[in-house]
Amino acid sequence: MKKYFSLISLAVVVLVAGFSYGFKAKTVVVSGKTVVVPDDAETKYAKGFEIYKTKCVACHQLSGEGIPSAFPPLKNSDYLMADKKRAVEQVLNGSNHEITVNGAKYSMAMPYQVDNYDDAVAVINYVLNAWGNDGGTITVDEVKDIEIKR
Ligand code: HEC
Repeated sequence: MKKYFSLISLAVVVLVAGFSYGFKAKTVVVSGKTVVVPDDAETKYAKGFEIYKTKCVACHQLSGEGIPSAFPPLKNSDYLMADKKRAVEQVLNGSNHEITVNGAKYSMAMPYQVDNYDDAVAVINYVLNAWGNDGGTITVDEVKDIEIKR
């Protein structure tokens, strides 16, 4: 029993160390053993994931797959991957014109979703990296010249 307890304490220490390392490490080595720490988009971009769950799931779904012929996918979306800054503008100002995503046309309007650059960048960094997407990241500095239209 005592043995398991110390193992659990070790696991906790490793997790905390991994977290405070800023989620940069996928594995850490403790006493010669490699231990995996969570490093998926939901933990790494936790703020963006929270915004996604409140503002985006209704249309784009938790899976990021959207709804065919109504709401475009964000998972594996060629449109999203082509232009990170346009994606930030999309959530700040919405969009209302026909777009083509992975060869399919979408023409419904998307209302604006967030009011500030921090939230917009947080949620876009999440979708750029969720569901196996490998879209990189964007910073607030890169989008500050987008005019927030209201
Ligand atoms: C009310 C439904 C709805 C909500 C809520 C919504 N979207 Fe959209 N989204 C759409 C529609 C419809 C389009 C296509 C817009 C167009 O044709 O102009 C779209 C397009 C997009 C696109 C570009 C197309 C693509 O698939 O890559 C991105 C990126 C995007 N949305 C991200 C988000 C994010 C992030 C959120 C949450 C902060 C969000 N959307 C919330 C309906 C929605």
